[in-house]
Amino acid sequence: MRILFVASECYPYVKTGGLADVVAALPPALKALGLEVRLLLPGYPAVLERLGVMRALRDLRGMPGLPSETPVQLLSSLGEDDIPVYVLDAPALYARPGNIYLGPDGKDWPDNHLRFGALGRTAALLGLDGDGAGWRPQVLHAHDWQAGLAAAHLRHPVWPFVGRPRPATVFTIHNLAFQGLFPPATVPLLGLPWTDFTPEGLEFHGKLGFLKAGLVYSDRLTTVSPTYAREIQGPEMGFGLDGVLRARAGDLTGILNGVDTRYWDPAADPHLAAAYDAAHLDGKAANKRALQQAFGLTPDPAAPLFAIVSRLTHQKGIDLVMQALPRLLAQGGQLAVLGTGSREMETAILAAAAASPGRVGVNLAYDEGLSHRVQAGADVLMVPSRFEPCGLTQMYALRYGTLPLVSHVGGLADTVTDVTESSLADGSATGFVFAPVQVGALVQAIDRALALYQRPALWRQVQVAAMGRDVGWEASARAYADLYAGLPLPAAV
Ligand code: ADP
Ligand code: GLC
Repeated sequence: MRILFVASECYPYVKTGGLADVVAALPPALKALGLEVRLLLPGYPAVLERLGVMRALRDLRGMPGLPSETPVQLLSSLGEDDIPVYVLDAPALYARPGNIYLGPDGKDWPDNHLRFGALGRTAALLGLDGDGAGWRPQVLHAHDWQAGLAAAHLRHPVWPFVGRPRPATVFTIHNLAFQGLFPPATVPLLGLPWTDFTPEGLEFHGKLGFLKAGLVYSDRLTTVSPTYAREIQGPEMGFGLDGVLRARAGDLTGILNGVDTRYWDPAADPHLAAAYDAAHLDGKAANKRALQQAFGLTPDPAAPLFAIVSRLTHQKGIDLVMQALPRLLAQGGQLAVLGTGSREMETAILAAAAASPGRVGVNLAYDEGLSHRVQAGADVLMVPSRFEPCGLTQMYALRYGTLPLVSHVGGLADTVTDVTESSLADGSATGFVFAPVQVGALVQAIDRALALYQRPALWRQVQVAAMGRDVGWEASARAYADLYAGLPLPAAV
């Protein structure tokens, strides 16, 4: 079966979060099951640079919904893991430095509707008319709002594609909080019919919703954990789309993300100070020493070292950690934070580090290698999110024998088993889970982690259980393959 993934990010070409990891790791996992997956990505400078010389397949200048005055072409290359990658090369839209979503003023690029409108339009074109070299997908699998319009265009093909068979469509929600909302004036600019600008269609409270288009027009919907699939059907975590999602409940499934165990393996990770595995956990001590040094923390092997690797946003609950910090420090704990985010949150964390030298260390950078070293060197990885569609860092932590301390939401609830008397007794405990997402409950979880840390044999038992937990992609890739197999494939494609 031929599947086209459409997304705005894919590691190692371009990454701002977990979406990039998933779009990188799922295609090879599907390929291992015999499926043929290709990717379509926007032609950001980093993508073009990484892929090097590419084959020009189609000149798209002036195609419906695509720029007519500037060059637009479809390029292709064989990418990582021998997965073919299509790139929408449109310098007027993508040839910009810095963050892929935000301009130098820290605000969304003002033409993001055109930038990602072009992505959805090109995906639909590939679905209806092929790549110009004989390949056409049977399934178009779009990820997050940036790819949301693909399904809308497939439902309303424009001349000369009217009447063509279309691929089946799957839309995966990685985060309902980012919806791609734009003023109504963008509807005709993007070649969308006004007749679809209704609450049953593209409209979300008077705006054009890219994510909503994906939810309404795709044949099947998925999100990245079973618990999040339930949560988003309620008003509390539905971001105003819970009604739409309830209406489509029969087509919505939650399939847990996995971890790319080739890159995330403490026994073979080139970023680490020392390799280790569940049978040789002593190697973790060297990583802890290196981490303490890298973050300016007192080099004390006995100090429980808590860490955060995260976007520093409201979603991630980092403000709760700041509130709980005095309690953590009073009990001899250390904190290392690797992250980037809002200026407000960055300032608060810097102030905390300045107030507790040697005990709180911060690196406000985006650093892939360092994120591996933090996972390897810490004792506890904190993810106190207010909502979390899946979350990958807690799974990396499990694999690195770093006990995750997480809130009981979304994929965090689905991947971490709380330390209790009974879970310790039956060997299933893998970390610390707290609810509700409030500072009181977080403090209690920190206290419980500190108490277990004083019992090294039990701590080690939980580490070994965590490292033995299956966080690979295989089971989830099978679930996606089953989903594709059940799609209504147009016979003529
Ligand atoms: P989200 O996608 O919501 O940010 P995930 O946990 O799914 O959350 O994925 C985050 C990804 O980004 C992980 O791979 C994590 O290691 C990485 N990451 C987050 N912040 C940083 C950082 N400052 N430096 C390096 N990697 C980071
Ligand atoms: C989103 C979510 C995160 C998830 C990731 C990959 O960024 O915030 O929870 O792990 O997508 O699916």
